[in-house]
Amino acid sequence: MTEPEPSYLAAVRESYDTVAAAYAKLVKSPAQLDPLSRAMLAAFAEAVRTADRGPVADLGCGPGHVTAYLADLGVPAFGVDLSPKMIELARQAYPSLRFTVGSMTAPAIRDNELGGILAYYSTHHTPPELLPVVFAAFHRTLAPGGHLMLAGHVGDGERLRPTRAYGGHPVSYESHLLPADRIAELLDRAGLAVTARLTEEPDEGATRTIATFLARKPERP
Ligand SMILES: C[S@@+](CC[C@H](N)C(=O)[O-])C[C@H]1O[C@@H](n2cnc3c(N)ncnc32)[C@H](O)[C@@H]1O
Repeated sequence: MTEPEPSYLAAVRESYDTVAAAYAKLVKSPAQLDPLSRAMLAAFAEAVRTADRGPVADLGCGPGHVTAYLADLGVPAFGVDLSPKMIELARQAYPSLRFTVGSMTAPAIRDNELGGILAYYSTHHTPPELLPVVFAAFHRTLAPGGHLMLAGHVGDGERLRPTRAYGGHPVSYESHLLPADRIAELLDRAGLAVTARLTEEPDEGATRTIATFLARKPERP
């Protein structure tokens, strides 16, 4: 029997459907990202290529530009997003790649199928009490020896409720900015061993701290 969908997902889906076109125009392409972000993506891509355990799922891929960047780095990658509109844009922009609608809370991916998971600025809408569900899904779908890269804004646990985003479009989602230590602890509890963590302090271009984690599903439980 399929589990009922967590209720917060409707607001996230509807909001990203509303902002999808504006988001795709506004968001930086990976080539325009700061050197540290590009270095972490390159390190992740190299780890996945070297381990050679399967494809990478870009979970919460949005318009697919980071999925395509990984593919350009020689990684077999596909994208999954909650928002059908985002998936439509991703398919239009990168017709040779696979993009599907789905949720990282219950991804339609087989156990141990993936060599890697990228969660790039896509887990912060998950209420903290449901992050263990998402991280359990990451653990289930990663092959032993597979790699995870998770990046996003972190904070003191504050809950943001913006009413407008990306060019002033109405949104009804919430964002949860957890401390980096809490995210690391939850990954560890899910059986994903954190191997590296980069924290970037806000500068004139960014108002919030960013944390990027690299983690690995151990070869043996
Ligand atoms: C800020 S955007 C980031 C998109 C892309 N990763 C990027 O870096 O530009 C967040 C994305 O995560 C997706 N998302 C949020 N929660 C999700 C979930 N439970 N499952 C799949 N996608 C989700 C949203 O639909 C949205 O496209």
